[in-house]
Amino acid sequence: GLCNHKEMFEHAIKGGFAVPGFNFNNLEQMQAIIQACTEAKSPVILQVSKGAREYANATLLRNLAKGAVEYSKEIDPEHKGVPISLNLNHGANFQICKECVDNGFSNVMIDGSALPYEENVKLTKQVVEYAHKFGVTVEGELGVLSGVEDDVAAAEHVFTDPKDVEAFVKDTGVDALAISIGTSHGAYKFKPGMHPRIRLDILHEVEKRIPGFPIVLHGSSSVPQEWVAVINQYGGKLESAIGIPEDQIREAVKSAVCKVNIDSDGRLAMTGSIRRYLAEHPKDFDPRQYLGPARQALKELYLHKVSDKVLNSAGKS
Ligand code: G3H
Ligand code: ZN
Repeated sequence: GLCNHKEMFEHAIKGGFAVPGFNFNNLEQMQAIIQACTEAKSPVILQVSKGAREYANATLLRNLAKGAVEYSKEIDPEHKGVPISLNLNHGANFQICKECVDNGFSNVMIDGSALPYEENVKLTKQVVEYAHKFGVTVEGELGVLSGVEDDVAAAEHVFTDPKDVEAFVKDTGVDALAISIGTSHGAYKFKPGMHPRIRLDILHEVEKRIPGFPIVLHGSSSVPQEWVAVINQYGGKLESAIGIPEDQIREAVKSAVCKVNIDSDGRLAMTGSIRRYLAEHPKDFDPRQYLGPARQALKELYLHKVSDKVLNSAGKS
C-alpha cells in the first residue's frame, strides 16, 4: 500500500538524500514518475494539488496513485517496487485535509503559512490530531514562498524565522516542516541579473534549533535552460525564466531536508517536447504520438532529479 512519510524521512535524514515530491494530474506524468523512480530505486511522493483535483477529478487521481503501487511492483517484481506516498499538496483548510485522510492519502500538507502565526499553529494542530488517528503524517509550513502555484499565489515572500520553528513543531505535532529560504513557485524565481541563491544559512540555523527534524523545500525547480530554449524555438514565449541552481539543492539535501518539491521543471519538459514534436510532425494527430515522447522526456528529467547530481535518492529504496 501507500506509505506515510515517517520511515521515508528517517532514511532520508540518515542517508543524506531527499525524497522527491513530484506533482501529477494525468496518466503520462504518473507513468513517467513511477517508471523513473522504480528503475532508479528511489522512494517517491506523488503530490496532488487543489488545481489537480479540479482538473482531473479527485477520485480518479487517488485511484491512479493506488494503481501506481501495483504498477511499480510490476516493473520491478524482484524488489517489490519502491515506497510510494500519496500527498495532498498545499491543503488550504481542515476540510480538504480531512477528506484526503478519509480517502486513503498517506500524507497531507496543511498550508497555514499565510495565516498569522497563532492561527497557523491552531489549524495545523487540528489537522495533525485528526490525521494521526489514521496513521497519516502531516507536513506544515512556516514562512511564505512567493510565486504562483496553480491558482494559489502568495503576495510577498517571507523567510522562515528560525526562532519560531522549535515552538511550532512542538505545539502542532507536525511530522515535517516546509520552510521558506528563497525558493519560490513557478518558472520565474529570480530576475535576470540577480544571483540565484537560496539561504542555506537559514536552513542551517533551523536545523540547529530542531536537530534531525524533517525539513521540506517547496519551489525547487531548476528551470532547465535547455527546455526553455526548446519552448522558445518552437513558438513559445518564456522570457527570463530562472530557477534554483541544482548544486544548491544538492547541498541542501545533505542536511535534514528530506523532501524536495519539483513541478515546474516537468511542465517545461513536457511542453518543450510536445511543441517540438508537433512542429516537426505536422501531419500527426494521435495524442499518443506526442504524449509518448513527452512522457519519455519527463522520465529522463526525473531520472536526473533522483540521481546523485540533485536529490541523491536513487538506490535508496
Ligand atoms: O508544491 C509544489 C512545488 O513547490 C512546486 O515548485 O514550481 O519550483 O516546481 P516548482
Ligand atoms: Zn509548493
